[in-house]
Amino acid sequence: MDKQLTHVENQHVLHSSIFNQTLRDWQTLKTEITPRNLMYPVFIIENDDSVEPISSMPGVSRYGINKLKHHLQPLIEKGLSSILVFGVIDKLPKDPLGTNADSQENPVIRALPSLRTAFPTLTIACDVCLCPYTSHGHCGVLFPDGTINNPASIQRIKEIAVSYAKAGAHIVAPSDMMDGRIGSIKQGLAEHDLRHKVAVLSYTAKFASGFYGPFRDAAKSQPAFGDRKCYQLPPGSTGLALRAAKRDVAEGADMLMVKPGLSYLDIMKQVKEKYPEYPMFVYQVSGEYAMIYHAAKAGALDFRSALSEVMVSLRRAGADVIISYFTPVVLDWIQLKS
Ligand code: PBG
Ligand code: ZN
Repeated sequence: MDKQLTHVENQHVLHSSIFNQTLRDWQTLKTEITPRNLMYPVFIIENDDSVEPISSMPGVSRYGINKLKHHLQPLIEKGLSSILVFGVIDKLPKDPLGTNADSQENPVIRALPSLRTAFPTLTIACDVCLCPYTSHGHCGVLFPDGTINNPASIQRIKEIAVSYAKAGAHIVAPSDMMDGRIGSIKQGLAEHDLRHKVAVLSYTAKFASGFYGPFRDAAKSQPAFGDRKCYQLPPGSTGLALRAAKRDVAEGADMLMVKPGLSYLDIMKQVKEKYPEYPMFVYQVSGEYAMIYHAAKAGALDFRSALSEVMVSLRRAGADVIISYFTPVVLDWIQLKS
């Protein structure tokens, strides 16, 4: 019977392309996940010897530098190649200018030299923002009426980025969403002869999302009043995301990011198609982490198959690198496979 099928009919047979794992792998090479496709976000606190579990993100903790090194060592042995560092303060004071974002007591600034020495092969990105350090919890400097003072904000963002770069960051990643921050940081790096050895990863299309809830608890960066809708992008807008990408590219960004991930796959695909020359990052944010964690915990879905599927979908939509709190478990899966 089969012999009577026409050439065209044979083209419609898909099962013949996927009957074993090797054949299936050949169909999915572009969405493979290796350690190089992962960046691991970590929270660093003031007390060098403490570990604080984050209740809104079960399985994730804030670490003092000494504990963080113990946590990272086995992951690096499993191939971890990059981290994204967030500072969290509790005892150091917060003020309207976020002075402790780049003071010598800042936990990130203190940790960087020691991380560089302990892990010479690890690429370290630092989140650059004011919100964990400002008394008002907003990502920029404010005018007395509570609106964003953009020139003052990008001046501070530049100073903070330069301080992290001087302390040893390979990559600075501004998440503040102020206008003109990429150009301002690039200029600051040039003024300090750091332009050739520090990259800028722009949180290009960062949306005003409901999925950041657990993070604000983790980073103690909840705004004291209002919300971030006047600087983060409206979820329904594709146009602003594309304008932001065009602008960040023009200002000299080295890498681009879309954030959150799962709800913005269309945005990522469009940005990647417009700027294929730039490595594309996606941030699978705290709420996406919590969603998968709790659904699996409740027995609603199988953890490994659901998470693997989400990871692959982020790659398929154009992500070169996935920033994920699930990195440790994914590294384990990669190890088992190879
Ligand atoms: C703040 C910042 C946020 C995240 C990274 N940097 C939250 C926010 O904008 O309030 C979110 C990360 C996550 O949810 O995992 N500049
Ligand atoms: Zn912020």
